[in-house]
This record gives sequence, C-alpha cells and structure tokens, in this order.
Amino acid sequence: VHKSKLIAGNWKMNASLASNETLLKAVLEGLGASVCDVAVCVPGPYLAQVGGIVSGSAIALGAQDVSAHPSGAYTGEQSAAMLQEFGVRYAIVGHSERRQYHGERDEVVSAKTAMALRHGITPIVCVGETLAEREAGQTEEVVKRQLAAVIHDNGHCISEIVVAYEPVWAIGTGKTATPEQAQAVHHLLRAQLHHAAGDHAAGIRILYGGSMNAANAPQLLAQPDIDGGLIGGASLKSADFLQIIAAAN
Ligand code: G3H
Repeated sequence: VHKSKLIAGNWKMNASLASNETLLKAVLEGLGASVCDVAVCVPGPYLAQVGGIVSGSAIALGAQDVSAHPSGAYTGEQSAAMLQEFGVRYAIVGHSERRQYHGERDEVVSAKTAMALRHGITPIVCVGETLAEREAGQTEEVVKRQLAAVIHDNGHCISEIVVAYEPVWAIGTGKTATPEQAQAVHHLLRAQLHHAAGDHAAGIRILYGGSMNAANAPQLLAQPDIDGGLIGGASLKSADFLQIIAAAN
C-alpha cells in the first residue's frame, strides 16, 4: 500500500490576518519538493484568507471542527457544506479540547465524521486517554471505545478517515509519548481498523499528536504505525513546522 505521511498543523485559536500571511509565506518558501502531505487546520474566520494563500500549493486547507447537522438552527456551528464551499479538504473531529470543553461525546464525534465524509472532507478523528486513564491502565479501553463508535457508524467508508492518537497528557504540555508508547497504541488502533476494514487498514493514516516538535518528530515518525503528525504549538512556528515536514519526507 502506498501512503505518504500527513503532517497537519492545528493552529487552534491562534491566528490573525497578518500572522497567517507571514507564517504561510515562510512555510511555502521552505517547503521545497516535499513528498509528504501537508495541511493546516485554521479557525473558521480565516478559511477564505488561508484558502486563497495556499490555493494551488502543496498545502491543503483544513478546519478544526464540523457540525454534525446539515443546516438549521445551530448557532455558532459550521456545516460540512459550508466548509466544502471554501475548499476544505480535512476537518479535525473529536479533538480532546472539544471533548473536554464542549462535552463532545463519542456519538457526536461519529456523526461529525459521517457528515464530513458525506461532503468529501477527510475527517481527522482524534482519540486519546487522559493521564488519569493512563495511570489506571485504561488507555487501550478508552481509545478502542472512541474509535469503535466511529467505526460502528461509518463502517463502509472507514478507510477514508484519518485517525489521530493524541494522549491528552501530552497535548500542549511539552510531555511527549515516547516513540514506543505511541507505537504501542498505534498498533492497537491499526489492529482495530484491520478488523473493520481488512487490508484497507494498512492505507489508513494514523497520526500522532501531543507536543510533537522538530526534535522528537524523526523518532516518532520512524515508528511503523505512525503515519504523520497532528501538530499544535510547533505548527505556529515556520522553522519548526518545516523541520517536522522534512522528518516525514
Ligand atoms: O492537535 C494538536 C494537538 O492537540 C497537539 O498540540 O502539539 O501543542 O501539544 P501540541
């Protein structure tokens, strides 16, 4: 199975017209002939601006969330059809910050995944355990439950998704899972995908997220089941983001 790695930046709620332009200009200049896939997931108000800047380049446009509903009285939400109009290729769903601060449960994450798929947007489905869950030995149970919900509702097109393993204790903390810890969970997720999708599972990209940076990216990306990264903080610095992309090439 041929699959290139995917390096996706998640800017979270960090952006401005001026800083976006500076950051993307530097990334585009430094990108060279990268062979991995690259995306930036930006806050909604900047989709048009960033879409214009990256249009025709090797950087794909991504959103950080998508509504589970098609349209209607859902104040504050953005539908998959709207994202599609702006050329969005990827949408993060079920990020731990959405699960934690917005009460997103597995069923909602699964419905969002389905909605993205229906509109030709690749969902980046996030799973990951908290520190308390890891310490209680529940890592496997938690990530399997989170992925199972998505598989259950999206069975026939599960090979179209991207999975991101993001241990909550490693997000924005500077603490990274060791390559071995990450690989162990990725391996479990791969087996679960294999159970659902057979040979297609080998082609499903499983990204690691959680304080991935220029220094630790090479070792993490060298693991057999780590197919890229979902990068928060380090995606806001062009030099760091470019070094991570280089490590994925
Ligand atoms: O989506 C990205 C992750 O939450 C990782 O964020 O790289 O700032 O730890 P971080």
